[in-house]
Amino acid sequence: MSPKPRQIVVTSALPYANGPIHIGHMLEYVQTDIWVRFQKLRGHECIYVCADDAHGTPIMLRAQAEGISPEALIERMHKEHLQDFTDFGVAFDNYYSTHSAENRHFAETIYTRLRDAGHIRTRVIKQAYDPKAEMFLPDRFIKGECPNCGAGDQYGDNCENCGATYAPTDLKNPISVVSGETPIEKDSEQYFFKLEDFEDMLKSWTRAGHIQTEIANKMDEWLDEGLKDWDISRNAPYWGFEIPDAPGKYFYVWLDAPIGYMASFKHWCTRSGHDFDTYWNEDSVTELYHFIGKDIARFHTLFWPAMLHGAGYRKPSAVYCHGFLTVDGQKMSKSRGTFIMARTYLDHLNPEYLRYYFAAKLGPGVDDIDLSLEDFSARVNSDLVGKLVNIASRCAGFINKRFDGNLGATLSSDSLNQQYLETAETIATYYEKREFGKAMRDIMALADKVNQYIDEKQPWVVIKDEARSSEVQDICTIGLNCFRQLVIFLKPVLPNLAAKAEEFLNVANLTWADLDNNLLDHSINRFNPLMTRIEPASIERMIETTREDLIAEQKIQQGPQDPTFEAIAPQIDYDDFARMDLRVALIVEARRVEKSDKLLQLTLDIGGETRNVFAGLSNAYRPEDLEGKLTIMVANLAPRKMRFGISQGMVLAAGGGETDLFILHPDTGAKPGMRVS
Ligand code: MSP
Ligand code: ZN
Repeated sequence: MSPKPRQIVVTSALPYANGPIHIGHMLEYVQTDIWVRFQKLRGHECIYVCADDAHGTPIMLRAQAEGISPEALIERMHKEHLQDFTDFGVAFDNYYSTHSAENRHFAETIYTRLRDAGHIRTRVIKQAYDPKAEMFLPDRFIKGECPNCGAGDQYGDNCENCGATYAPTDLKNPISVVSGETPIEKDSEQYFFKLEDFEDMLKSWTRAGHIQTEIANKMDEWLDEGLKDWDISRNAPYWGFEIPDAPGKYFYVWLDAPIGYMASFKHWCTRSGHDFDTYWNEDSVTELYHFIGKDIARFHTLFWPAMLHGAGYRKPSAVYCHGFLTVDGQKMSKSRGTFIMARTYLDHLNPEYLRYYFAAKLGPGVDDIDLSLEDFSARVNSDLVGKLVNIASRCAGFINKRFDGNLGATLSSDSLNQQYLETAETIATYYEKREFGKAMRDIMALADKVNQYIDEKQPWVVIKDEARSSEVQDICTIGLNCFRQLVIFLKPVLPNLAAKAEEFLNVANLTWADLDNNLLDHSINRFNPLMTRIEPASIERMIETTREDLIAEQKIQQGPQDPTFEAIAPQIDYDDFARMDLRVALIVEARRVEKSDKLLQLTLDIGGETRNVFAGLSNAYRPEDLEGKLTIMVANLAPRKMRFGISQGMVLAAGGGETDLFILHPDTGAKPGMRVS
C-alpha cells in the first residue's frame, strides 16, 4: 500500500509507581495505543515503549507508609500497571522501569556528556534543613500552612486545598515531618542544567512543526520569560540514581524519567536484536513521537529536547499533548465516586466500550475530554451494538441456515464495498492526524449505509420466495463484506472485537491492505454475539465500588510517612491534650465482625455507661482473649458511622500494622470509668 514502511517509535508518559492506574491515565494510553495499532495495521514498523516512573520522593514515602522497601513497591506496581494496561488492550512492545540498569546507563551518559560540554554548573542555594535530624528536607518532608489560602497541614511544594504551587520556604509555620522541628535554611550545593545554552535551538524547534500550536504558544511565553537554570539534583535521602561525580546527590526524578523512554527502547532492542543507534543517533531518519498530558508539556518540550540535543541524540519528531479527562463535566472526584481505577472499571465493564468512547471524543488538540456516563452507554449501545454488531447478526443467520455458511461467489453490485474503499484514505488520514472522533463519525456513517441497504433489500421478505434465494445470499455477502471492512477500520480501537470477528468470518489477521479483498465463495463460522449492551446497573456498581476503593487508598496515604525516625505529630499544647476525654474501659464483650477481616466489635464499660466500638484488632487478638481486660479509650471521639454500625470511640493500642498491635492496660487498681490524665 504505502511504498516504504516507516520506522516509528512511540511512547506514552511513564506513570508514577506510587499509585494505581485510573481511567484518566487510560485516556492517554488508549489514545497512543490506537495510533500505534493503526500504524501497524498499515504495515509500518511501529514500536511502542513505556515504563513505570519509579523514582522520587512520593514513591519513597509510600513505601515507608506501607512498611516495605521502595524496590518491593515498584515491583508490585509494575506488575499491577502492566496487567491493567494489558487488560485494556494496550499493547506495548516493551514495558520497563526507570529503575533499571539501562536507565542508569543513559542517565549517566547524558549527564556526563552535558557536563563535559559545559552545560552543567553547580551553585550553592539555600535549602530547608532539619537541625535536629541533621538532614536536608525534600519538599514533601515539610508541612505547614499554605501561603495562598492558609490551609493547614500542606506539603512544601503545593497546596491540596487551593492548588497553589510554591517553594517550601514560603510555607507559614513550617515543620519538619521528620522531627517536628522548625526547619532552618542551610547552604547546599546543587547541580543545574543550563537551559539558556539551548535558547536558539529551542526557538527554531518550537516553530518547526514538532508541537501543537497551543503548546508552541506556551513555549513562546516560557522563552520570553527567559530560560532559567534547571535544578537536576536532590539531596539524600532520595530514591533515585546517585549522580556519578557527586556522592550524596541524586538525579531529580524528572531528569531520568524521560530518559526511561530510551532505556525501555534499549531493552526492546536487546530482546529483539535491533540496533539502538539507528533510532537514537542525532542523524536518525526514524520517527519518534511522545504522547503526553498537557500538565507535563514543559518537561517534554523544553528540557527534554535540550537534553537530547546537548548530549548528541536525536530529538522527537513530535510531542503530542492531550487534555484531561473529566467525568460528567467535572474533575474526577473521589467523593462523587468518579475517580475510577482502571481495575475497578475492568471488574464491571468491557474495556472496548471505553476505548470506543474515548476514540469518539478524541481530537488532535489539548481540550479536556468529558466522559458523560449517560452519553457513554447511549453511544456505545447505539453505535457498537445497534449499528456495527447488528450488521453481522442480521446477515449471519441467513448465510448459516440457508447457504450452509457459504458466501456468494460474486457480488451483484459491489457499489457499497466500493464506496467503503473510497472513504478509506480519509479515515486513514484522520487516524494519522489523531482525529479519532472524525474517523469514528465517518465509520459509523458507513455502518448506517449498509444497515439502510439491508433494510431496503428486506432479505427476510425475499427469503420466502424460493426462486429468489440467491438474492438473499448476495445481499448478505455484501453486508458481511461491509462488516469486514468496518472491522478493519475499527481494529485499532476494538482489537478484541476484531479478533472475534475474524474468527466468525473465518479469516486470519486482517490488515488495512485487506480492505479490497472481498470474501467470496468463502465459508464463515457460527455467529456468537460479538458485544453486549452496557447495563446501567454495571455503571452504578462501578461507582459504588470506587467509593469503597477510596477509603482503602486514603488509609495508605495517611499512614506513617516518616522515613528513618519516629513519626512525631506536630506539637500540641496542654489545651489540645485536655480536650481529649481518656477513660479506663472494661472490655465486656468482643466479637468478630462478619464480612470484615480486620474489625472486632467491642462492648466497653466505662463506669456504668456502655460503648460500642469497632477496632482493627482481629489480626492481633482472638476476641475471647480480650474479654475481661481493662484498656484505655478515647471517650469523646465523635461517633462514626461504619458499614457495620456506629463506632462510639477508640481504644488505644501500641504498634503498627495489623498483627503487631498491643492494647494498653492501666496499672492494677484502675477501675472502669476513671479519667486518664
Ligand atoms: N511520571 C510522570 C511522567 C513522566 S514521563 C517521562 C507523570 N506520571 S502520571 O502518572 O502522573 O501521569 C502519566 C500520564 O497520565 C501523564 O501524561 C498525565 O498527563 C496523564 N494523566 C494523568 N491524569 C490524567 C487525566 N485525568 N486525564 C488525562 N490524562 C491524565 O506525570
Ligand atoms: Zn492553599
